[in-house]
Amino acid sequence: MDWKVISGGMGVGVSTHSLANLVSKTGGLGTLSGVAADRWLARMLQHGDPDGRIRNALSNFPFRETAKRILDSFFVEGGVTNGFEHKTLPVFTFRTPKILIDLTVCANFVLVFLAKEAIAAPVNMNYLEKIQMPHVYSFTGAMLAGVDYITMGAGIPLQVPAILDNLSEGKAATYRISVDGKKETAPLTFDPAKHFGEELPKLKRPGFFPIISSNLLADLFINKASGSIEGFIVELPTAGGHNAAPRGKYPLNKKGEPIYGIKDEIAFNKIVQLNKPFWIGGSYASPEGIKMAQGLGARGIQAGSIFALSEESGIQKVYKDQIRKLAFNNQLEIKTDLIASPTGFPFKVVQLPGTVSRAEVYDSRPRICNHGYLTTPYERSDGGIGFRCASEKEDQYVRKGGKIEDSEGRRCLCNGLIAASEITNPGEPPILTLGDDTGFLKHLMKHEDDSYSAADAMRYLLSAPPGKHLNDYLNNAGNKTHTL
Ligand SMILES: Cc1cc2nc3c(=O)[nH]c(=O)nc-3n(C[C@H](O)[C@H](O)[C@H](O)COP(=O)(O)O)c2cc1C
Repeated sequence: MDWKVISGGMGVGVSTHSLANLVSKTGGLGTLSGVAADRWLARMLQHGDPDGRIRNALSNFPFRETAKRILDSFFVEGGVTNGFEHKTLPVFTFRTPKILIDLTVCANFVLVFLAKEAIAAPVNMNYLEKIQMPHVYSFTGAMLAGVDYITMGAGIPLQVPAILDNLSEGKAATYRISVDGKKETAPLTFDPAKHFGEELPKLKRPGFFPIISSNLLADLFINKASGSIEGFIVELPTAGGHNAAPRGKYPLNKKGEPIYGIKDEIAFNKIVQLNKPFWIGGSYASPEGIKMAQGLGARGIQAGSIFALSEESGIQKVYKDQIRKLAFNNQLEIKTDLIASPTGFPFKVVQLPGTVSRAEVYDSRPRICNHGYLTTPYERSDGGIGFRCASEKEDQYVRKGGKIEDSEGRRCLCNGLIAASEITNPGEPPILTLGDDTGFLKHLMKHEDDSYSAADAMRYLLSAPPGKHLNDYLNNAGNKTHTL
């Protein structure tokens, strides 16, 4: 656990298996994003899996019939042609169709399998606590492929450790799903042995690192988590993606962004006292940042944006090129948007023409909720459980008991983030997110149209001179042979 660098888990589809593989191979802890993994697998198979690696991974999936059914349902030899409509996939509910469960288990298996290919080093998988419905299926798939660590933020995932314990022992796992308007949670149980009709092999229990934004949360995990946690990722509000809101009442700056104050400062000395390793994320992506983090007692940093803009990330090249160019010229604007995300968390939005950051693009997009990851379960008037999202059609949202004012300005992150990624989403405008700091680009790009690989990013972060064996500069074992 001596990594100085953990690459951030970036959804949807930004933290790819190639990126995680490369970061782990070069001495960091490479992270995958498991968010919407089912959509990723279905699309990649429909795009023909040109190098055959996904089919190879699936041939290693322990439940053969399931893997075959996924291939029969989604694989298109040679890939789909222009104008082809991708297969519509169902969404998660308390009666999730078997095909979506299988797709989710297989997708998480394939991602971890590919990230671990040809390396001895560990890999990490990232999920969001806010997206609870797929967890039990996702964990199972990732663990079947031997995932080493799991990171999770966007909520307080106290129940995860016990679930990882149960799954590793081949037992059923129950996730208690939060339901709006209800005190009690609703249990969602998955028994892999029953589902696949076979006993599961004993699985390695991955280490668990909750992502936290305060030392109070670190205490909470130490005292209240349902099982062991192996460390923390401490994320600051300058990080890309979702951020924790400031505590209590807070002022806004001229752009309408929240201003964080003294109450939001993290007492790192208190986290040190808990004797768990931790890494700090949010504008720390530099050699000096690593030293600073270590000065605060951390093992190192979690870095996202520097890897999101590298060649191996899953953001479509056309957007990466534009963002790198603007940022290189100090012209990139990133807004901490308080209303964009239907989750209610502040969300960093890259201000880019042609994306839903622009009012005209947002206004011209018909609202539709067809992926449903960010829906909130709520208690219906008939006592059942429904699902609503503040960015779905306003009248539907209101019919489901949502408040009209809560739906204003909400962006559909499911469709927008899928559209920004190589998963692709024809007809949907993208949305892009990034952290506040892009100062690393000046060290990685020679001119505004230049690009760089994740290996270049690792070399920069670890201050390794070009052309040398990066491994000479690493403390980390398990990476003896890789040359950059
Ligand atoms: C494009 C992008 C997407 C992100 N998505 C997620 C996510 O899905 N889950 C998560 O825990 N963190 C997410 N993050 C946060 C990163 O994992 C990481 O903690 C953060 O980017 C660190 O700050 P930095 O960008 O300044 O390096 C995302 C960050 C970026 C840049």
